[in-house]
Parts: sequence; structure tokens; C-alpha cells
Amino acid sequence: MREGCHVIVLPFPGQGHLTPMSQFCKRLVSKGLKPTLVVVSDKPSPPYKTERDSITVVPIPNGFQEGEDPLQDLDDYMDRVETSIKNRLPELIQDMKLSGNPPRVLVYDSTMPWLLDIAHGHGLRGAAFFTQPWLVSVIYYHVLKGSFSVPSTKYGHSTLASFPSFPVLNANDLPSFLCESSSYPNILRIVVDQLSNMDRVDIVLCNTFDKLEEKLLKWVQSLWPVMNIGPTVPSMYLDKQLQEDKNYGFSLFNAKVTECVEWLNSKQPNSVVYVSFGSLVVLKEDQMMELASGLKQTGRFFLWVVRETETDKLPKNLVEEISEKGLIVSWSPQLEVLAHESIGCFLTHCGWNSTLEGLSLGVPMIGMPHWTDQPTNAKFVEDVWKVGVRVKTEADGLVRREEIVRCVAEVMEGEKGKEIRRNAEKWKVLAREAVCEGGTSDKSVDKFVSMFC
Ligand code: UDX
Repeated sequence: MREGCHVIVLPFPGQGHLTPMSQFCKRLVSKGLKPTLVVVSDKPSPPYKTERDSITVVPIPNGFQEGEDPLQDLDDYMDRVETSIKNRLPELIQDMKLSGNPPRVLVYDSTMPWLLDIAHGHGLRGAAFFTQPWLVSVIYYHVLKGSFSVPSTKYGHSTLASFPSFPVLNANDLPSFLCESSSYPNILRIVVDQLSNMDRVDIVLCNTFDKLEEKLLKWVQSLWPVMNIGPTVPSMYLDKQLQEDKNYGFSLFNAKVTECVEWLNSKQPNSVVYVSFGSLVVLKEDQMMELASGLKQTGRFFLWVVRETETDKLPKNLVEEISEKGLIVSWSPQLEVLAHESIGCFLTHCGWNSTLEGLSLGVPMIGMPHWTDQPTNAKFVEDVWKVGVRVKTEADGLVRREEIVRCVAEVMEGEKGKEIRRNAEKWKVLAREAVCEGGTSDKSVDKFVSMFC
């Protein structure tokens, strides 16, 4: 029965979405399914198989010609992605039906809610997949319903909102587009629209786990058919007993695996600061300087991911000076790195995947959020799970070198450092329990399969 149950999974084409949704495909494979992962790509290629031939990857073009920069204009990008999917997906579903392998469900990225109509129009059920925590989705929902007034400035300190079992939020903790809506009106519309058709969706999947947002979960479950299936960290990283392919999921970047692992192998346990800001964050040149100087001043070893498009901003003289202490790479095998015993803390932008990965692998974190859901995720790290601290940003938008030094010391040294590490260990165990056999997220995946297959 499961052999014949075909599921299509369609992420938004960004690393922060491809990672969890491709990992979800792997969970479906572990339950005996053979899903199709549709990937909107700037490098179209014929379909191919992966994960011991159980996942079929179908790349479809993003509508851009070679040499065009898709990230110049987000509106244009979203339009072209939508047009491309609307042109290709119906044909793809039709071909699957004709070949005797009809899909039953479309698991689509919540940032593309119009996919629900395509699913229903072709006789498929629609499952929205959220790549952000419930708290963030609930805030967007209140904005959509007009029951949340958006503050006009990001740096206000007024008390703004409270949610079940969550500390009160001020403007600085809210998803960034709410406060910067005048700069990003279209992105605000996109993130709020994710919640626009929740009354018609067949199931809602979220990359979180029940214990993370227990009370809020009850509230969202009273509104929508919700299932938490996270963290989508491959289970082999959570439980060394488990045998699984050493596969990082679908990546847009080439990780320097051997270089990173060999370098980490030469370091003492809990000694290295790992620095990464995910796939999108762009730092200003003076921020790069502060960061490099701060890392130098800590006197610690560090592994710093600086994407190719960011390397020009590195302060060259300083980089030479710190090269004995630090390894700078364009992309790392992040899970492998976070699972390495030499890592002492993770300086992160608090993208939801990085946050969940740090939490699930028990690594103390320093949150340096930039935009979208990251400020709210940093609030979780510092004030809810208490597994790290958040940097203080100056009024000019910069995080100074002294602040980096202070935060590294706080999470890696002294009584506070010990407490943070104890909390991190606790959450690591809970994350593992959720995804291992019989855990809450594992049961959700079982339920998903039994509902549709
Ligand atoms: C984006 C948003 O910024 C984030 O806030 C939202 O929740 C999801 O989409 P991104 O900024 O790329 O994603 O960050 P994140 O969510 O952390 O995803 C990055 C992924 O790339 C992670 O799974 C991480 O493990 C991986 N990664 C990052 C690597 O494998 N190697 C690296 O060097 C850096």
C-alpha cells in the first residue's frame, strides 16, 4: 500500500526551505514511501534519483536566463517562480498519473499558498509546510486578521505582545518585516499571506516539535489540522546508534567537508567558536571588521563560514593575522560541524534551521539575528530555552567587537556558561526523543502517512 503512495514535496527555492523539506522526504522514505522532490532551480536538468533510489528529484527552471541575478528584485523573482511552477506542475502531475504513479498529496511550502488550489484542482490533498516556529506564524496570523498592531519603529522598547508560555515581546523581538514594513512591503505581504488559506488546507506540517512550543501548539491545534514533524535534523546526528546515509539533504552550495572535519579533529573538545549566518544574510564591510576583530580578541579558535559572495568584504590584513587561529570556508557541512566535540559555541544569525540544528545537537548559541523570523528565534534561544545569549546591537546597526568577546565568554565560561550547557544538553535529549521511533514527531509522520496512504 505504502509502496504505491506517492507524495510530491515542493519547497521554495532557498536553502532554508530546501533543507527541511528535503529532510522531510527522507523521513517519508524511512516510512516506506518514494516521494518526488520538485526543486525550482537555475540549473535545469533531467529528473534523477537519490537516497538509495527512493527520492526522485525533478528540477524545474526558475525562469531566469544565465547571467541574470534572481535576487535583484524579490517581486520579480516570486512572479517568475510562480509562473514557472504553474506552467510545469500540472503537466508533471498528469505525467505521473499516466505512468501509473498518481500523487495523492502535494506538500507545498507555506510561502507559496497558491499551490493549494493547484493541488485541489488536480484531485490531490494539500499539506502546507511551515519552515518557521509556530510563534512566528501566529504573529503573522494576527497581522493578517488585523488583531496585531505593528509598531512603527524597530528600536522601541515598549511592551508589545505576549503569547502562551512565552516572555513578553518588544519590537526588537518581532519578525523584522513587521517593523520595517515600509522598506519591505512585499515581503511582509508574502509572509502574512502564508496564513491566508488555512481554513481550506488539508494538513499543516511544521518543522518544530511539540515540547518546544507546548502551550502555543494547543492554541494552533484548536484552529488548524497541525502536525509537528521536526526537527528535520537527520536522525543519525541525534543518535549515533542509528545508521543512515551521511547525506546533508539538498544543498545549493558545495561544503568543504574534509577541510572542516580535519581542522576540527585537531582541536580540543568545546574549544572552537563556529560562526555562520546561513545562506542569505549579507553583512556590511564594517560589521565584517568588527566580527573579525572580535574573534581575534577572544583568543579562541574559530571556524567561520563566509560565502563566496561575501569574501570581498573581509579585512585582508586582519584575516592574515588571524589565520593561525581561524579557518574561513565558503560553506561548511554544518551538521557535521555542530556535532563535532570540538565545537564550544555557535555564533548564528538564528535562521530557524540553524537554530534547531544548534539546539538539537546541544550547542550553546550566540544569536546575532538580521531579519525575517530571526529576532524571534533569538528570543527563544536566550529567554525561553536559555541555551545562549543574544548580542546587543548599537543604534548604528553594528555589533561591536567587545560585544562579540563578551558573548563568547558568557556562553563558554563561568557559571552562566555551565548553566547554558546544561540547558543545551536537556534540549538535545528532548529533540532526539521527538524524532526517534515512537517520539511525537515520528508519530506525526506515521499519522501523515496513514491519513493519505
Ligand atoms: C532562511 C531564513 O533566513 C530563516 O530565518 C528561515 O527560518 C528559513 O529560511 P537561511 O538564512 O539560509 O534560511 O538560514 P537557516 O534557516 O539557518 O538555513 C540554512 C541551512 O543551511 C541550515 O540547514 C544549515 O545547516 C545550512 N548550512 C549553512 C550549511 O549546511 N552550511 C553552511 O556553511 C551554512
